Order: sequence, then C-alpha cells, then structure tokens
Amino acid sequence: MCGIIGYIGDTNVLPILINGLHRLEYRGYDSAGVALLNENRLYLQRAAGKITALEQKLPADAPLSTIGIGHTRWATHGVPNEANAHPHCDCHQRLAVVHNGIIENHGVLRQELIDKGHIFQSQTDTEVLSHLFEEYLASGMPLSEAVRQGLLRVQGTFGLAVIDEETPDYLMVARNGSPLIIGHGQGACFVASDTAALVGLTDKVTFLDDGELAILSRNGVAVKTIDNRSVDTRVEIIDQNLKRIEKAGYPHYMLKEIMEQPQTVEDTMRGRLLEEECTVKLGGIGNDIDSLLYARRIILTGCGTSWHAALIGEYLFEELVGIPVEVEYASEFRYRNPIISEDSVVIAVSQSGETADTLAAVREARRKRCKVYGICNVVGSSIARETDAGVYLHAGAEIGVASTKAFTSQVTVLALITLLLGRMRSISSARGGELLRELQQIPQKIERILQQHEQIRALAEAYQDARNILYLGRGYQFPVALEGALKMKEIAYIHAEGYPAAEIKHGPLALIDKDMPVIVIATHDSIYDKILNNIQEVRARNGRVIAIATEGDQEIKKYAEHVIYIPDVLEPFAPLLTIIPLQLLAYDMAILRNCDVDQPRNLAKSVTVE
Ligand code: AGP
Repeated sequence: MCGIIGYIGDTNVLPILINGLHRLEYRGYDSAGVALLNENRLYLQRAAGKITALEQKLPADAPLSTIGIGHTRWATHGVPNEANAHPHCDCHQRLAVVHNGIIENHGVLRQELIDKGHIFQSQTDTEVLSHLFEEYLASGMPLSEAVRQGLLRVQGTFGLAVIDEETPDYLMVARNGSPLIIGHGQGACFVASDTAALVGLTDKVTFLDDGELAILSRNGVAVKTIDNRSVDTRVEIIDQNLKRIEKAGYPHYMLKEIMEQPQTVEDTMRGRLLEEECTVKLGGIGNDIDSLLYARRIILTGCGTSWHAALIGEYLFEELVGIPVEVEYASEFRYRNPIISEDSVVIAVSQSGETADTLAAVREARRKRCKVYGICNVVGSSIARETDAGVYLHAGAEIGVASTKAFTSQVTVLALITLLLGRMRSISSARGGELLRELQQIPQKIERILQQHEQIRALAEAYQDARNILYLGRGYQFPVALEGALKMKEIAYIHAEGYPAAEIKHGPLALIDKDMPVIVIATHDSIYDKILNNIQEVRARNGRVIAIATEGDQEIKKYAEHVIYIPDVLEPFAPLLTIIPLQLLAYDMAILRNCDVDQPRNLAKSVTVE
C-alpha cells in the first residue's frame, strides 16, 4: 500500500522524508518521490523502483527546506514509472499532492478539468486532485479552503497531503478511508500513513478520522471536517519502541518476526491469565462479554492470514464454548447482504486494522446493528476505533508483508476468548486449568521448534525447485494447511494449495506424482489415524510426503519421506506450533529462490484499497 510522510518545522526536511519513506517500505511499493518548498519554490524529485533509486537522483546540494512531503506508491491506476510516481503537481508546478486510496470519480473529474484546459502528465487518479485544488486556488481561495472545496467534489478513498509554494506556513492533510496519522513535535508537525514512520520523531499523535482534514503548521494542528465543522484535536501517546521496528541483526524482518514468536505470544497473554480461577481476563471485549456469551451466532471475518486465524477461532468456539460460528471472507461479507441480527456478534480479525475489505465489513455489520468487535495489532487503527470493543495482539509492529507473529498472536487471542467464554459456560475449572497451563507452555514449545531451523532449511534445499506444493490438514490443522500454503505462495512465489486432507480423494489426488511434494500436518490428535490413511493414499501414487508430526511418533516414519517434529500439545492449541515449521520452510524456500522476502512482488502489507 502507498506510504505518506510529511513534515513542517525548523529542521531540514529531506532526511526526515527519506528516513520516513524507508520506514514505510514494508507496506509494499514500486516508486517513490518527494516534494519540498525552498525559498517559496517547489522542488520535486521522483523515481521508479526502490527508494535508493530516488536517493541516487537527489543531488548532493539538494535544496534545504523545512516543509515537504514524500510518498511510496503501490500502483492502482497507471503503471509503476516515474511519471506516475507521487507527488503529483498542478499545471504550473505550484502545488504538490501525495495520496493513498482510490478516487472513484477520477474519470469524470479528469475530463471536466481537461475541458477547462488542464494538462495531465500521468495516468493516475491522484493527479486529478492537484488540478482540482489548482482550480480553487486560482479563484483566490487560500490553500486550506481550496483543498476542502476540492475534496467536496471527490468520491472515493484518500489519505493525502498537500504543499503549496505560495503557502509556506502550513501544509494540508485529509483522510477518508485511508489511514493518516499526525505527529505533534516541538514547533513542528509530522504526517504519516502509519506510526512506524513516526517512531523516534514523536510519541504524541492524532489519528485522523474519515471525513477530516487538518492544517499542520509550526504552531500546531487545526482539525475540522471536510464539511467545515470544527473538531477537537485528539492527542494520544504511541509505543515508541524503536527496537521493535528494526531488524535487530536479522537479515529480514520476516525472520525476526518468526523468531520472536515465543516472546510475542507471551506478550499477547501477559496480564490476561487468571491462574487461580483457571480463566482469563480481557479488557475491551471482556467489559461487554455478555453480548458474546449469549450470542445466537458469532461471525468471524477477515482477509488472508487473518481469515485463516478466524477459521481456527471457529473450531475453538464451537468445540469449547458451544456457540455457532461462521467465518466469512470480509470481501464477500461486505457485499452479499448477510443475514445478521441484533443477537449476532461480528468479530473482525485484522493485524493492521486498516484492511479496506475488513473495515467495510465492520461498517456493514454496524449498519445491521449487531455488536462488532475487533482483534487488531495496530493500536488506534481504524478497525480498533470503529468497533464496539476489541482485543489488541500486543505483538509489536509486524513489518514483513507475510504475516507470521500476528497469526500466532491472533490465534492466541482467540484461544483466550475461548477460555474466557468456555469457563462461563461448560468448561470446568480442572479443564480450564489444563488449557491455561498449556497456553503458558506454548512460548517455550515454539522455541523448541525454532531450534530445528537448520533441519527445515535442509528440507527447503531439497524442494527448492518445486513448482507446486500441496498442504493437507484435518480439523484444527486444516486452516494451518491453508496458512502454510499462503506463506509459500506469497514469498517463494510457488503455487501451493491447502486442502482438508480427506478432500484429496475428491479430485486433488489426480495431481499426485513424484514431482508434487505433499506437506501433511499429522500431529497426534483425535483424527490421527484418518490422516495416516490420507498419507498412504498419497504414497500409493508415488507422492512425496513431508509430515509435521508429534515428537516420539515413530509410526509416521513408515509413510513420510521427511518428518519435522513438534512438541506434544493439546489439540485445540496445536496450530500455534504446527504453523512454525511452515513459516520457516516458506522463508527458506524464498531465500533460496532469491525472492524479496520482506517486500514480495505485487503485495502490500496493508491492503487499504478494494
Ligand atoms: C498474509 O501473510 C498477507 N500479508 C495478507 O493475506 C494479510 O493477512 C491480509 O491482507 C489481511 O491483513 P490484515 O490482517 O492486516 O487485515
């Protein structure tokens, strides 16, 4: 997703912009640019490709300035090249705009502006904004009013920042559907698409809401709505834990985030386990637990990895709490007119808390007047702020595009909610204690699996030329099979499919031959014998099986060519362990195949557009 950084203050802006853009790289992008004001002249520099390409184009004597904006572009309209890179200017290169989102009515506006004589330089929807603001500036309006009037004509989503060479004392920002955060400094203001770009600059922030714009000056911030109503400036304090967004010596964020899962799962549980009562305490959702406890139906919704975590939540809630659950892709839920009533509860699962489809699903559910909760990682994110209550993951910033620690923390939160609700229904204190103690052991069990990384790397070397891989699991392990396949697809670019193991008889068995590696999650659980049968069905057709199995299982060696062992664990919590080797396998395959692990092609960390 596009990234925005902006600054006005008393310090040279260019290093602030470049460093901020590097902090936003993880969002995924294909071009970058900056614009700044120097002696009331607009200076613009853009480049296709990585930020380093932009840095190489910046002259050593780049103008000094104390106001500017920067952008990393993830192409929606127009190919990734310099002409389509942001910032975009008006006809006279007086103002510059950076934008994240989609201007739905850009075609109509573009034609209207062309008919008025505007000359467009790019294929982007964004450039419409710069010419629209130019129109209103030309009528004599100040920048703040010109931007506000222009935005009243816009349909669609935006997070944007605007500077104007004739307005050196402030810059404009506005938000509708794409996150934008204002940072408050000493005699300075910042704006960024997410808090990662503000770490080390300020911990005082204002999360703009949809329909709001703000004037950022050296004297502070003034917020109002696009329809011209004043708004109090809400200042919050964010986690300034710089080390959490650095690589800490690892070659990639993804590996760091895989390796820190013992700690992040621990952090997710910290302060939430009540050992004496063999239950859990949760703020947010916990303060409104009866809505969940007496829900006629729970709908879990999300996208990608979060949807996989939600699937595990379905198995947990239905087995251990006894409440009917449905899991919906947010992109489907938002458009299919779901039948939900006031005694339904919707839980949105989202690491970023900004995924457009999931946010839209939240809004659709609220329109249907049922309770809506959020399970998010990013504090103050849109979904966190637009749901009735929620539970934060406390997993720290997840920078790698491929979600890893967020997944295990999402499943941990779902397990905590399960234990809380279950202990209010049919789970005894003895069973509750058993589940709670198992959760407490998960971090150290993850650690034991991580210590097998060398063995998993050897496996990756053996299969690095695979062109297709099948992942099979049953019960709680079926969503893990899906998640393992997604990891392999998105960072090693290998076609991989997750399937319920029993389903292979109904078609996929035709794919099996010696060139189709089959990864089977075959841990000791209630359906172990059934999964062994599935493995034998694969072996009978010369399939090559890699098994994820429980430590001590010698039987599995008769059927699997390779076995990765995980510690024994209670079945409901096994996904927290079985996903670990699959994360590492995808990571190692991607490295061997020279893929860009942290910023895989075509993908973004937070998909804030449809
Ligand atoms: C997972 O590795 C991907 N990065 C992607 O599927 C992601 O899970 C999905 O876009 C949802 O993101 P969210 O959790 O931030 O809503």
